Amino acid sequence: MQRTFAMLKPGVLQRRIVGEVLARFERKGLKIVGMKILTIPPLLAATHYAEHKGKSFYDGLIQYIISGPVVAMVIEGDEAVQLVRKICGPTAVCESLPGTIRGDFCLHTNLNIIHSSDSPESAERELKLFFQPNEIVSWDDGNAAWY
Ligand code: PPS
Repeated sequence: MQRTFAMLKPGVLQRRIVGEVLARFERKGLKIVGMKILTIPPLLAATHYAEHKGKSFYDGLIQYIISGPVVAMVIEGDEAVQLVRKICGPTAVCESLPGTIRGDFCLHTNLNIIHSSDSPESAERELKLFFQPNEIVSWDDGNAAWY
């Protein structure tokens, strides 16, 4: 069982597609065990995206992520890190196929609508940045045997 971090980026609330995107994870059988709406402070944005500092898209990425509220979440399931990445689709819009979240909802790579951790190590680091332990709520899945 693994936990990963995912975040619906600014614009998703405005487009009223939070439910549609979340449904992709629920329908797969993944468990949402943490969720909050927040506007990311610039310092948190810089820490979260520190590995991209210096890249051509870095400034735009920071500006975008602090530009409005995001929905941050903790998703749990077998191989959740890889699975959530697959459901999101590749970063570049031309590579993300229909059926993935980016493939279905994104037109511009630099405005892509969702972030998800790219490794278990990133997931652990990012979860700690955005969630206190008491904000993650474990719950028993009565249907676990059916998925
Ligand atoms: S890379 O090129 O391997 O560092 O890209 P990646 O690890 O997939 O993610 C980089 C994050 O920056 C966001 N971003 C862009 N990436 C590539 N090209 C452009 N133009 C760009 N603009 C923004 C990208 O969405 C990744 O952030 P997250 O939050 O994970 O989506």
